[in-house]
Amino acid sequence: MNPDVLAELNARIASCTACALHQGRTQTVPGDGDPNAEVLFIGEAPGFHEDQQGSPFVGQAGRVLDQLLLEIGLTRADVFVANVIKCRPPNNRDPLPEEIATCEPFLTMQISGIRPKLIVTLGRFALQYFLPGTSISRSRGKVIRSDPYLLYPLYHPAAALRQSRLFQVLRDDFQRIPQIVAGAERPDVRATASAAAVQKEDSATQLQLL
Ligand code: URA
Repeated sequence: MNPDVLAELNARIASCTACALHQGRTQTVPGDGDPNAEVLFIGEAPGFHEDQQGSPFVGQAGRVLDQLLLEIGLTRADVFVANVIKCRPPNNRDPLPEEIATCEPFLTMQISGIRPKLIVTLGRFALQYFLPGTSISRSRGKVIRSDPYLLYPLYHPAAALRQSRLFQVLRDDFQRIPQIVAGAERPDVRATASAAAVQKEDSATQLQLL
């Protein structure tokens, strides 16, 4: 994604008042990293420290993320890290379905702009953003095609902090990332978008014919 387009998107996020979360935020947390990253990590929502600093994963869970990235030879500058929603929910409660729906266009624009080879979802909310109703314990560590994207659902680093057994699972899953990325291609977003547009047009025509 062109850095100017990213800056414009970040400005739109910063001025968003589309849901009630804007009232309690210190600042928005749009996400950061390489706008042309091969790997996009998607977490849940900003917490206290993220809200203070305006960057994702800068608290304890972020330290786990940094460590696991380092172990596979990557830094934050090599990847892009974002969240499903861009404002901190009060007291770090779970994001509400309507908050996720309202914020969705921002993540959609980030994903289609970055066109990552691999989307690593961290935790249940990011997984279910793509595949509603999917269980994290059953799908974690599996590479799943969700056209035009390749998903790799993993446990959330905060869950790994709470349960040491999950930390090892998360670490093992991280170790596979370089190999998965090496075998993956940039998604052809335009082909999928135009296929979706044709389909939409077809159904509009069908509707007119009814
Ligand atoms: N947890 C998340 O899901 N995202 C952050 O940015 C920080 C903690």
